[in-house]
Amino acid sequence: MSGPRMMINLLLDRLAFTGTARVPERELVMDDPCQADAFDAAGSDGGILEFLYLYHALQATTVIRPGDAVLDLACGPGNQLVLTATLNPDSDFVGIDASPRMVDKAKALVARQGVKNVEVCLGDMTDLTGFAAASVDSLTCTMSLHHLADVGELGSAFSEMGRILRPRGGAYLADFGRMNRLATMRHFSSEWKREQSPAFTRDFLQSLQAAFTVSELTGAVAGMGHAMERFTTPLAPFLVVFKTGWRREWSPQIASRVQSRYEKLSPGQRRKFQALSRWLLAGGCELPSRM
Ligand SMILES: C[S@@+](CC[C@H](N)C(=O)[O-])C[C@H]1O[C@@H](n2cnc3c(N)ncnc32)[C@H](O)[C@@H]1O
Repeated sequence: MSGPRMMINLLLDRLAFTGTARVPERELVMDDPCQADAFDAAGSDGGILEFLYLYHALQATTVIRPGDAVLDLACGPGNQLVLTATLNPDSDFVGIDASPRMVDKAKALVARQGVKNVEVCLGDMTDLTGFAAASVDSLTCTMSLHHLADVGELGSAFSEMGRILRPRGGAYLADFGRMNRLATMRHFSSEWKREQSPAFTRDFLQSLQAAFTVSELTGAVAGMGHAMERFTTPLAPFLVVFKTGWRREWSPQIASRVQSRYEKLSPGQRRKFQALSRWLLAGGCELPSRM
């Protein structure tokens, strides 16, 4: 996530006259065993996504208050959900996913790690009728919006989020944005191909091709009816983050929990964490503590 090749790709992406058409995910709901296993492995301890999960967990923690009822939409195999819940032991988390296989994986992870503040169930983020209006204090959704079929479903998901989130609740939503060139997408999906499985590399490229544009995402977020700030990685919207303002004090206890997770990352993962943090900081997205 740094170096001359990335910079050339970003500049060419920025200068491109036209974008590429969206290619929706072949597996909208990730129930294929090979794809689900590859994604789970990438997010488990020592997997390629560990640094990204810590980044999102840290950002999500700024909008979650102790005592909050938090809903994580499209939680997948639960690696992100469990990490965020571990950093916030005084809040209660529910994760939903539309894939029975992912729900089983997430439940198994929660049981294996003995996490007490997380429940997982089957659910569709475009239809949250099981949740009453204004019943959720905070919402999280990471790397999942690109799994929706089209802009109509994206709008439904955000209007449902707006309905169930209580006034002045917290939200941290992050996903890829659609970049202009297939070559830029190929660069990112294969940048670390030696550290990831071929199935994950294929899935990563499909995800980038399925990403919504920044304006599609921004339009849908407006339909949520809650004030959110938007941040994107400069030059190309590799990552797009929407978040509400900070809702908590950054106590020494949280800082030390986060620091100890950071220290468990390998040196390579720490470098990726730092590179991502710098890139998003250049887009205005600040981190609560320096690591
Ligand atoms: C790439 S995974 C991301 C999982 C997790 N949020 C993370 O950051 O690791 C995307 C997930 O979205 C789920 N998904 C797709 N469409 C969904 C929907 N309409 N409602 C709920 N989950 C959905 C898929 O089954 C898959 O588990």
